Amino acid sequence: MHFEQSLSEGINIRRFAVIGHRAMNKGKLPLNDLAGGAGRMDVLIRALMSALLTSHGLRSDVEVILHLQGGPGPHRRLKFVGSELRGFHAEERSVAGLIAKAIREPSPAIGQWIERTPGLYDGGGNLGHTLSEWKNSIFIRLDADAERLWKQNEPIPSESLPNEQTIAFLLSDDQPLETDEGIPRSLGSTWLQGHHAIAICHFLLDEGVQLNL
Ligand SMILES: C[S@@+](CC[C@H](N)C(=O)[O-])C[C@H]1O[C@@H](n2cnc3c(N)ncnc32)[C@H](O)[C@@H]1O
Repeated sequence: MHFEQSLSEGINIRRFAVIGHRAMNKGKLPLNDLAGGAGRMDVLIRALMSALLTSHGLRSDVEVILHLQGGPGPHRRLKFVGSELRGFHAEERSVAGLIAKAIREPSPAIGQWIERTPGLYDGGGNLGHTLSEWKNSIFIRLDADAERLWKQNEPIPSESLPNEQTIAFLLSDDQPLETDEGIPRSLGSTWLQGHHAIAICHFLLDEGVQLNL
């Protein structure tokens, strides 16, 4: 089933927009230097894996857009659609290989998505474009200093009751987010690695913890 079709049929989607301030967006991705020359692509890959993978499989209800802002080309976006992905494995280097395949191609125009490998779409544009494409989502900006994401004094359900809202989360790489978009919400006052923050979001939604929205 194509992703847009699943949306129109009312299947709930979890979305993650990740900003890669220095992430390279064109040319030959240095697979042996993902943290350095590739502009902290390692951080984005960990976020991607945390968003899409369970212990033994893929989350089919998840969509991730990586925002590659580090040049040398204009801002570029890579969209990973859980229900369509093939060849996405729990191994950083193989995920980097999928990204490498996409960014060695010329960058598509803004508003155009080109499927590079099954479930991996390559497009132009920036966070503003993602926001308008995801306007049917509750958009949450993850920020440790904000109000908590969950309602205070509500119990954690004793059985998993997955949240059925279409929610999008915005997070950054290792640099601060410079935007006021979205509802700011915290996962606790300690700043975490982005992939850990994503794992906590999944926990809260998988278990149906009441959210403070
Ligand atoms: C490594 S942190 C970025 C830290 C960066 N120095 C800053 O000041 O934003 C990566 C992302 O994870 C999310 N994050 C980390 N800890 C969080 C927390 N306790 N609550 C909510 N979001 C958090 C934020 O969206 C953050 O942009």
